[in-house]
Amino acid sequence: MTTKLGGLEGVIVGDTAISTVGKEGVGLTYRGYTIEDLARHASFEEVAYLLLYGRLPTADELHGYQKKLSQQRALPAALKTVLELMPATAHPMDVLRTGCSFLGTLEPESAQNLPRDVANRLLACIPSMLLYWYHFHQTGIRIETDSFEESIAGYFLSLLYQQKPLEEFRRAFDVSLVLYAEHEYNASTFAARVTTSTESDFYSAIVSGIGTLRGPLHGGANEAAMDLIQQFKTPEEAEKKVREMLAQKVKIMGFGHRVYKISDPRSDIIKIWSKKLSKTAKDGYLYAVSEAIEHVMRQEKKLFPNLDFYSATTYHFCSIPTYLFTPIFVLARITGWSAHILEQRANNRLIRPEANYVGPDERSFPPLESRGNASSSA
Ligand code: COA
Repeated sequence: MTTKLGGLEGVIVGDTAISTVGKEGVGLTYRGYTIEDLARHASFEEVAYLLLYGRLPTADELHGYQKKLSQQRALPAALKTVLELMPATAHPMDVLRTGCSFLGTLEPESAQNLPRDVANRLLACIPSMLLYWYHFHQTGIRIETDSFEESIAGYFLSLLYQQKPLEEFRRAFDVSLVLYAEHEYNASTFAARVTTSTESDFYSAIVSGIGTLRGPLHGGANEAAMDLIQQFKTPEEAEKKVREMLAQKVKIMGFGHRVYKISDPRSDIIKIWSKKLSKTAKDGYLYAVSEAIEHVMRQEKKLFPNLDFYSATTYHFCSIPTYLFTPIFVLARITGWSAHILEQRANNRLIRPEANYVGPDERSFPPLESRGNASSSA
């Protein structure tokens, strides 16, 4: 008989001092600070520092950290060649997975390239990697990845647009990175910790995280949510269609959560940004469409939007192509993954659970000649 163990729901698999998710049903904190305070007062770099170094930076430390990151954006020539060789049709998550892995062959961990250095380098150059590939294949330009723009959010949008972004877009994007930065033992972080627990290298753990984040039940949900929202021209059309989808037991991406039971605190924050940006967007009606979907989901399923749902329209209103949404999640979550890799290493024990066996009882091995003719299934 199979059991309901699948999914590890409710199973505590380790300690962490990095974040809390869903305490008393709703909360999210990074090293003790609430997500509401961080989204309101902190930049993404401040949060990255908090996660990687364990405390908030002073003003001088923050300035030095931003400068340090901005000096590490250049891509090695060999990596540019690899990015050019990847197909234009590749999924950008595959591009990042391969790009990070390749960088690991060029700049492996060593006594001169310590784990935190690797984390900072990846944080600094993932926008360069993603958008070098994007522009080479979509606009035919070999972009320059040097920039005087200090913030990662501003850097990403400047590379994407090839001009300075509006401050409103930059801050919306910055807040989204803060919200996506860390989330305790979610699937991709757990994958990164499992890889780390074998004493594997930093890049392998990050690549495990990227591969795990790619799926629509995890990071891929923001793209799937956008694909859904964009199908509708009016809130009424959205309500009708989503009710039909639910009747057919279709999952609506961007709703529900394994740990949060009442609401996702990140959703309320990003929803405000989506609404704000919708006012000047050419297809701002998509915000009303999103609200109609949220209404149906609450009414029919008692389900609430998670971070991915209103992030989708926030990014869309910033003119970001949908297929870059999940890679942006990587750019933010590099910080959380890296903090967890460091934490796992500091107190490591091989992660090796056991399975409940549901196969046949022990039996005798039949000689090849006695097994009859082959079926066509092989
Ligand atoms: N749309 C419709 N129904 C949903 C749903 C959704 N987004 N999320 C959960 N449900 C329903 C399931 O169909 C199931 O109903 P049932 O008991 O009648 O079969 C019930 O709620 C429990 O769902 P389940 O998939 O078992 O929960 P889980 O804890 O395993 O999964 C998620 C959590 C996040 C994977 C799930 O809610 C989901 O697939 N959401 C959509 C993907 C997404 O947004 N992912 C990003 C997460 S941050």
